[in-house]
Amino acid sequence: MNAVAFYSNTGQSRSVAEYFAEQLSYPIINIENSSDDHYENLVLVFPVHCQNVPDIVKAFLKTTKIKNLTVIATYGRMCCGNVLREIQNRYRQSIVAAAYVPTKHSYLAQDSAFSDYDKLRPIVEKIKTPAAIILPRLYKNPLANLFPKWRSRVGLKIFKNANCNGCNACGENCPLKAICEGVPSSECIRCLKCVTACPRHALEIKIRLPLKLYLRKKKSDQLIIYT
Ligand SMILES: Cc1cc2nc3c(=O)[nH]c(=O)nc-3n(C[C@H](O)[C@H](O)[C@H](O)COP(=O)(O)O)c2cc1C
Ligand code: SF4
Ligand code: SF4
Repeated sequence: MNAVAFYSNTGQSRSVAEYFAEQLSYPIINIENSSDDHYENLVLVFPVHCQNVPDIVKAFLKTTKIKNLTVIATYGRMCCGNVLREIQNRYRQSIVAAAYVPTKHSYLAQDSAFSDYDKLRPIVEKIKTPAAIILPRLYKNPLANLFPKWRSRVGLKIFKNANCNGCNACGENCPLKAICEGVPSSECIRCLKCVTACPRHALEIKIRLPLKLYLRKKKSDQLIIYT
């Protein structure tokens, strides 16, 4: 089976996945609901979280057999880390193409989404004639592995406002089941899927000073493609 699979909390990776699904005429699947565990050609699109591969993506790669894998990491123009090479090292999948795609940061409302889709065309062509590639190692901050989820929790607060009616759409959409009726638990990784999913716009965020200062740093807008 061929497919485009995505993991996406605020829609950026999903938009990139939709581009590949349309160009390749592959079905598109959300890895949170996927039941197949074997693919001939798979394009996997996911966000960089704290310069790391999200746990859900790691679990998917661990249990899924893929003959030809294309990996696309979207990142919020801060630092993409070394996630694609980490995937190649850890899961030894045969990677045929890869890219780091700069896009809107989940925490920055004023950011613009990725729009240079024509530049992804070489990846589409490579998928049609797959051959394995070796990915180079990129810079990753040596502190990136130090309690990343805790750092996210400390950096950003999620709270509900008076619009909340207790429908619990937030809890049903949370990939970690880490929120109930608008109140996040200590398992929350601040991916903001619940904020996007709330039909009443009842969830708000407050970015604390250290994260605010970090997000003001010089942005990187580099689209990096490997074919
Ligand atoms: C918890 C968390 C950690 C993030 N860490 C990084 C990061 O280390 N570097 C970066 O450039 N962007 C980072 N981002 C931004 C996302 O990678 C980026 O906005 C991505 O495109 C979101 O994809 P999605 O909308 O498909 O979830 C982070 C976002 C979240 C929610
Ligand atoms: S989805 Fe929104 S309105 Fe529904 S319980 Fe959660 S925060 Fe409240
Ligand atoms: S509760 Fe936390 S982990 Fe769950 S969707 Fe919301 S931000 Fe993401």
